[in-house]
Amino acid sequence: VNPVKRFKYIILGGGVAAGYAAREFSRLGIKPRELAIISKEAVAPYERPALCKGYLALEGAARLPGFHVCVGTGGERLLPRWYAEKGIELILSTEIVNANLASQTLLSAGGIFKYQTLIIATGSTATKLTVEGAGARNVFTLREISDADKLVESIKAKKNGKAVIIGGGYIGLEVGAALRINKLDVTMVYPDKWCMPRLFTPDIAAFYEGYYMKKGIKIVKESLAVGFNADASGDVKEVKLKDGRVIEADIVVVGIGARPLTVLFKGQVEEEKGGIKTDGFFETSVPNVYAVGDVATFPMKLYNDMRRVEHVDHARKSAEHVVKAIKASEERRKIEEYDYLPYFYSRSFELSWQFYGDNVGETKLFGDMNLSSPKPKFGCFWFKDGKVMGVFLESGSPQENNAIAKIASAQPPVENLNEFTKNDLPIAKI
Ligand code: FDA
Repeated sequence: VNPVKRFKYIILGGGVAAGYAAREFSRLGIKPRELAIISKEAVAPYERPALCKGYLALEGAARLPGFHVCVGTGGERLLPRWYAEKGIELILSTEIVNANLASQTLLSAGGIFKYQTLIIATGSTATKLTVEGAGARNVFTLREISDADKLVESIKAKKNGKAVIIGGGYIGLEVGAALRINKLDVTMVYPDKWCMPRLFTPDIAAFYEGYYMKKGIKIVKESLAVGFNADASGDVKEVKLKDGRVIEADIVVVGIGARPLTVLFKGQVEEEKGGIKTDGFFETSVPNVYAVGDVATFPMKLYNDMRRVEHVDHARKSAEHVVKAIKASEERRKIEEYDYLPYFYSRSFELSWQFYGDNVGETKLFGDMNLSSPKPKFGCFWFKDGKVMGVFLESGSPQENNAIAKIASAQPPVENLNEFTKNDLPIAKI
């Protein structure tokens, strides 16, 4: 019989949110063996965005321990030794297969864990393509470091080969660029009329698509992959499209989105918009059970709306907030509700964009988005009800990126926008 391991706090999941929460617990004070992190990954929490950026680089690739949290925000790098020194139990390579919130118990194949307070930080799982031949070798999704390792092996094995990227979102665009830099012959296939349709306007997308094509990436839009053909040894060879076309492939990366991992808690906790519903302190409908990062659907104060956010900035900030909230409630103190300004970013080739706020309403582009300029630099405002709601900027300086964050947070009326842009964002002519 397995002994029951008891902790005051358990963080379920060992990703970005878990790492930032552990640092906050340590800042606010915990006793040895009060906190455990249980993760099915074999490594301590790391900055997940590195997996489709530096991790896939041709030279000087990022490798652990280089990008453990909290280096992504310029903070201390938390190595396994750090957790040991703080008395935080890092229980790795351990998948929780059953959770019973009523009895405050988690089960893995070989263990029973009990908690007083649970933080659910299970993140998301990459959506797989369930089409004919999807089990062929060298067809990948990318979520965890073990996925990235397999992709890296395959890049090495298929030097100068052909890669097909399915999906035109963040992962598709970043991995497409990384594979092209690795000298693969890259084709991107996606069902939408333009890339990143949830954020980009057609004009913004046209810039990035044009840029990618100049880099030698082929783009097939408004097309679905319906199957894969493999050779006799099981290696993928072709991607079949719905319209009958066939594209040769030695490597396929499927980046068609992710699904929050809430399945362990189905029927035990209230859900909303596909995530676990929380209040402004990330507490769920079950007392002493909290949810953060990708899995949480929380009140977005700024927009008076319940939202789920699958981005690293929110994972970090929600993790810090929940620990402050737990500590405050233990000490019968009050803290402010989470007040989040959405922030998304991406980098590929020499490009780097940031977006703050909400992409709703009318849009107005500014700057130079001419692909033949030596260094195009442009942006876009979103306006609604006479106010600025969101701002996008490609190739901004740190000062300019701060300026767009300030604008998106202040939501100035359109007529006052020039005051904001005059000094800090001089390329924005309204
Ligand atoms: P996260 O996914 O980081 O961690 C969840 C952890 O829980 C994992 O360790 C998982 O193994 C574990 N787990 C799940 N179920 C379990 C179980 N039953 N038992 C034990 N452990 C379990 N965002 C952004 O803003 N900019 C970017 O550039 C990128 N880039 C990017 C690249 C790639 C390749 C990915 C996959 C994702 C991004 N993201 C991103 C998104 C960002 O990484 C994501 O929003 C955060 O990692 C979410 O943090 P969480 O801690 O919620 O989940």
